[in-house]
Amino acid sequence: MEKYIINGGKALHGEVEISGAKNAAVAIIPAALMVDGVCHIENIPQISDTDMLLTILKELGAKVRFLNKSTIEIDCTKVRYQDAPYDLMRKIRASYYLIGAMLGRFGSAKTTMPGGCNFGVRPIDQHIKGMTALGADVDVKNGFVYADARDGKLHGARIYLDKVSVGATMNIILAAALAQGRTVIENAAREPHIVDLANFLNSMGADIRGAGTDTVKVNGVDRLHGGSYAIIPDQIEAGTYMVAAAATGGEVLIKNVIPRHLECISAKLRETGTIVQEYEDSVLVKGASSLRKVNIKTLPYPGFPTDMQPPMGALMCLANGTSVITEGVYDNRFKYTNELRKMGAEIQVDGRVAVIEGGKRLTGAPVHACDLRAGAAMVIAGMCATGTTVVEDVRYIERGYENFVGKLKALGADIECVDEPEDSDSSDKILCVC
Ligand code: EPZ
Repeated sequence: MEKYIINGGKALHGEVEISGAKNAAVAIIPAALMVDGVCHIENIPQISDTDMLLTILKELGAKVRFLNKSTIEIDCTKVRYQDAPYDLMRKIRASYYLIGAMLGRFGSAKTTMPGGCNFGVRPIDQHIKGMTALGADVDVKNGFVYADARDGKLHGARIYLDKVSVGATMNIILAAALAQGRTVIENAAREPHIVDLANFLNSMGADIRGAGTDTVKVNGVDRLHGGSYAIIPDQIEAGTYMVAAAATGGEVLIKNVIPRHLECISAKLRETGTIVQEYEDSVLVKGASSLRKVNIKTLPYPGFPTDMQPPMGALMCLANGTSVITEGVYDNRFKYTNELRKMGAEIQVDGRVAVIEGGKRLTGAPVHACDLRAGAAMVIAGMCATGTTVVEDVRYIERGYENFVGKLKALGADIECVDEPEDSDSSDKILCVC
C-alpha cells in the first residue's frame, strides 16, 4: 500500500511546471470517441484517471499511441459499440462522459453509475435530463446507465439545468455535438475546462458557441474529423502549489498557468497577506511571515473553486484568528477536517460550514487521504507540521496530481513515497517512484 512520509518544517522554494488540466482531459479523452479520424492531443496529464479512460477507449477499439509522456494520438475510426470494462468505469467519476460520447457516436450507451471522490450525494439527474431532452430513453438499473436514441439519432433541444453542473454541461455538449439540429443549454456551468472541451470539439469540426457563459449553443454536425489540440493547464493543481508555497512560507514560481483562471485563488491568498505576482504564463507566490485568516465560500466558476476548499482549510489552521469556510457546491466536503484534528487542528463543522481556530502549531500524525483534494490538504498540513506525518490512501491523490511527490521534492519538501505491504514492519518499506 503506497503512502507518503513527510517531515515538516521545510519552506518550498524554486519552480514547478503545471500539467494539463485533469477535469478537461477526462472529458476530452471520451470526446475523441466521437471523432472519425486521428486526434493529436498535447498536455495530457499523467494521472490514473486519464490512464483508466485511455484503457476504456482501447477496449472499445480505439488505437492509442503515446508520442511522448504528455502527447498522444487517439484514432477511433474503427471503434464499434460494444461492452466496455465496467470495473474501470465504476472507479472514476468522469466515466459519465462516455454516456454523451457513446450516444453521440453510436446512438446507444451502456456505462456504470459513476464512481469518484466520496463527499456526499453526487447524482446525475441533470445528465439524464439532458440526454432525455435530446431524444434518448435513459434507464438506470443494477448499477448501470442505459441510453438509446429513440429514433437512432439524437436531436437538438433547449435544456435548462436545474443545478449548475460541470459534468452535466459537458456531457450534454458531447451528446449535442453530433445531434441533428440546435441545442441550447441554459444555466450552464462556466468552468475553464468546459471552454477547453468546446474548443477541442470545435477544432475537430463541431459548432459550439458560448462555452464559458451560462448559455451554450451547439449546432449539431454530421461528423467530427481528426485534428490537433493542446489541453489547458490545470487550475486546481496550480492553486494547490500556490497554497503549499503560502503555507510553508516559501517562494515558488508556478509555471505554465493561465493567471486569469487563478484570479479567485490569487485574490484570496493576497487577503491572507501572501504575495502573489502574476506574469504572462506563471505566478510567483511568496509566503508571509504570519498569515491572516480569511473567510471563504465556494461557488461555481468564477467563484472560489470547491476543489480548492480542502487545501485552504489546511492553510487556515496556520492563520491567525478564526476563519469560516462555507461549502457552496457539495453537501459534505469536510471529512478531511477529522484528519486535520489528528494533527492538532481546532475545527468545528456544522453541515456546509467549518469554523477553524487558526494559529495552531500542527504536529505530525498518521492520517488518511479521504479523497483527491483532501489528500493534497493533508500533504500541505504535513509539510507545515512539527515532526513526521504519514499519509495513507495516496491512490486518491495520484488520480489528479501528476508526479506530486517528485514536484514537491524538487521544491525542497522532505517527502517520500513508500510502498509497504499490508501490516508490515518498517524493514519491508520500499521507496516507490510515485
Ligand atoms: C466536476 O464534478 C469535477 N470532476 C469535480 O472535481 C468538481 O469538484 C466539480 O465538477 C465542481 O467543479 C470532474 O470534472 C471529473 P457538478 P461533477 O456536476 O461534474 C450536483 C476534483 O477534485 N449535481 O458540477 O460531478 C452535485 O451533487 C473533482 O477534481 C446534481 O445535483 O460536479 C454537486 O452538488 C472533485 N445533479 C453540484 O451539482 C447532477 O446531475 C455540482 O456538481 C449533477 C450534479
